[in-house]
Amino acid sequence: MKPKYYITTPIYYVNDVPHIGHAYTTLACDVLARWKRLDGYDVFFLTGTDEHGQKVEKAAETAGVDPQEFTDRVSVAFREMAVTMGISNDDFIRTTEARHKASVQELWKRLEASGDIYLGGYEGWYAVRDEAFYDEDELRTLPDGSKIAPSGAPVEWVVEPSYFFRLSAWQERLLAFYEANPGYIAPETRRNEVLSFVKGGLRDLSISRTSFTWGIPVPGDPKHIMYVWLDALQNYVSATGFPDPAAPRAAFWPADLHMVGKDILRFHAVYWPAFLMSAGLPTAKRVFAHGWWTIEGEKMSKSLGNVIAPADLVNTYGLDATRYFLLREVPFGNDGNFSRKALISRMNVELANDLGNLAQRSLSLIARNCEGKLPTAGPHTEEDATLLAAAAALPAQLRSRLDVQGFGDALEDVWKVIRAGNGYIDRQAPWALKKTDIARMGHVLRVLADVLRTVATVLQPVMPTSMAKMLDQLGVPETARDLAALATPLADGTPLPAPQGVFPRYVEEVG
Ligand code: MSP
Repeated sequence: MKPKYYITTPIYYVNDVPHIGHAYTTLACDVLARWKRLDGYDVFFLTGTDEHGQKVEKAAETAGVDPQEFTDRVSVAFREMAVTMGISNDDFIRTTEARHKASVQELWKRLEASGDIYLGGYEGWYAVRDEAFYDEDELRTLPDGSKIAPSGAPVEWVVEPSYFFRLSAWQERLLAFYEANPGYIAPETRRNEVLSFVKGGLRDLSISRTSFTWGIPVPGDPKHIMYVWLDALQNYVSATGFPDPAAPRAAFWPADLHMVGKDILRFHAVYWPAFLMSAGLPTAKRVFAHGWWTIEGEKMSKSLGNVIAPADLVNTYGLDATRYFLLREVPFGNDGNFSRKALISRMNVELANDLGNLAQRSLSLIARNCEGKLPTAGPHTEEDATLLAAAAALPAQLRSRLDVQGFGDALEDVWKVIRAGNGYIDRQAPWALKKTDIARMGHVLRVLADVLRTVATVLQPVMPTSMAKMLDQLGVPETARDLAALATPLADGTPLPAPQGVFPRYVEEVG
């Protein structure tokens, strides 16, 4: 039986239209899901939309439609974003679905049964934009006297009856949990932030509201609507068919990785494991918090008018170049700046020149000089062996990079081999060998074809379409494109289709 791997994106609020921030989180998950499939895992990759709560209710009101109609309409935009970005998710969950409501109500009952829920009254600050409660000392006062949350969101004073979750009682157990699971929160700096937050003491968490109705009612007390984060976090469990232990995907829980942005780490690293432990459910294995994109040096915002839609990038630069750039440009975990100039430069230098030219030069020499057939491997010189060994080491290297979500490092590992391949072709000059040593020319071209095959295989998760084209041109059958297949050499003399450039240079239109 294949080992299982379960990966999740956050579920997106439907009050907003999808932008590259959302696309980024989903893309990172997609690359890992595809990588794990390539590495022989049975993968479950989940994404979806977060449709309840005051923020969505208000957005529907502003749009002048009923919240159900509004969410039906806007959640489609997130499905479309997944298609635009070439995302291979296995399921798309909406928190307004019946399967999710039943699962959340069961979670509530379990928390109640464990004695962690009590009825009280909430009096304090709430930011609708973040759907989060804040302590007075976390807020900043503006010159006009109004207060804002650390995220910049306006806050309002809320007084209402509320159920509470006894989070305060979980402080020590959470600290013990982090200690026992050092890989639970990544990167390290974020882990330290969470540890100091929890060490600072935890207050009980208000987990129901009575001032609006758009949400899942509390079992037995339907005036109360569950706190949208309790509702939302449970989506990850709902999608595995909870509470039915015989559901086809039941065995996927606990998730291997929750990918989140740094702004929502506290919910995933503090509240979520406490809820799960209280309900007697296993906790997820890891939460990775990535950084935020700014656009040409500025915060992305509707008011600045600089919000980038994923479709805009894909239509302008192509899907694979966009995917490559987003994961290559910034060390994963750090904040990054999006610039069109940087994207074009990576497209032209790394994709068109480094990789595209290496493939095009090698394949057109084979087409012209080897009757379009894969040349036979010959005795290896030291230089051949060095290059082949560097390529052969890639799957294991990438495995360890991607296990810690090091996308940039993984790509740099691959590019080292590509650059070495370019150095090799220049030094060996197979075009000159044609006249002096035709057998050696064939051997050199075969080394290059084998290196390109490995490179294209391991790059499939990042650039699925162009690497499929490259593998077609290398004569690699569709059934031999996973990591395990690399152990079996391609048959000598395999006929190759006419080579075609995979990565065109991007020429900016003037005017
Ligand atoms: N609905 C919650 C998540 C619930 S998960 C149980 C939510 N939704 S969101 O739509 O506001 O944000 C979803 C993700 O998009 C977050 O991980 C967030 O970090 C990410 N991004 C939003 N803007 C971003 C950038 N400018 N840059 C990178 N990621 C950003 O939070």
